[in-house]
Amino acid sequence: MLLSRQVEGLVSRYVPGNDVAEVLAAARALVDGGLAVSVDWLGEPCTDEEAAEAAVRRYVELLEALHTAGLARNAEVSLKLASIGQGLPDVGAKVSLENARRIVHAARAAGTAVTLDMEDHTTTDQTLETLRELRKDYPETGAVLQAALRRTEGDARALAFEGSRVRLCKGAFREPVAQAYPDRHEVDKSFVRCLKILMAGQGYPMVATHDPRLIRIASALATRYGRAQGSYEFQMLYGFGADEQRRLAGNGEKVRVYVPYGEQKYGYLLRRFAERPSNLTSFVRSALRSLR
Ligand code: FDA
Repeated sequence: MLLSRQVEGLVSRYVPGNDVAEVLAAARALVDGGLAVSVDWLGEPCTDEEAAEAAVRRYVELLEALHTAGLARNAEVSLKLASIGQGLPDVGAKVSLENARRIVHAARAAGTAVTLDMEDHTTTDQTLETLRELRKDYPETGAVLQAALRRTEGDARALAFEGSRVRLCKGAFREPVAQAYPDRHEVDKSFVRCLKILMAGQGYPMVATHDPRLIRIASALATRYGRAQGSYEFQMLYGFGADEQRRLAGNGEKVRVYVPYGEQKYGYLLRRFAERPSNLTSFVRSALRSLR
């Protein structure tokens, strides 16, 4: 019992709640501290249209709550198309586009925007196609590109136009070698190439990494391409790299924290630990300390 309370306490450092009220409290604390937020509901990939509909309602409720709490100016929402029907056989593309349209509409009404999270390479084309359709009426909708994928330089070029919001990350999925660089160093080099394209372009780059080297390179590229602070932003995950988030914000950079919430928090944390085992080591150390 005591152990499960301690573990819950530690988990809440990375996933600050199960419900909207808890995630809003965390978002408010970050916004009050000078940071921006992207809220991520940890929904499951849905298996039928009813579950997709329930997920749409949850996203809309979240957006309304952000508006009511006065947080919409500084808090956007990250949307997983899988949770609103992308994977449904035959109808996935149509259902998830219609559902996404309702969510981006609700975001605009709330005074904020949505970024479409990117999942594994089998969904990239369809997610970018959904983005293209949504942007016709809601050009504020953001995209995510993954440096790990070999195709991403081309996608970055295609998305480096005015008004285009693009989050660049390394990519969280284990992908086949035919599609992705197997070597971390190659992924980092691809990240830099894509970053150059986005920083040199007319869009709004969102640099999502905790890697200090890539953060330094992003800052140097912003200077090289004459970008003012605020014409791009840094993004990090809630609970990871908090000192760096504060340092960058203190230097006048725009920093957005990706704040997950929901029942699926253990799956989310396991994925983060699998990516970087030293995160697990510090989690276990803190757990042991809190038991002493
Ligand atoms: P990585 O984990 O490769 O670490 C590189 C180096 O950075 C480490 O060796 C260490 O030096 C330093 N470092 C890393 N973490 C640190 C920490 N906590 N404290 C101090 N130093 C640290 N993925 C995806 O596929 N689709 C998506 O939609 C998204 N969305 C997304 C949003 C945001 C805001 C972020 C930050 C990330 C994502 N990701 C994602 C996840 C992303 O693809 C990637 O898996 C993780 O961010 C881990 O990669 P990093 O670039 O952070 O560094």
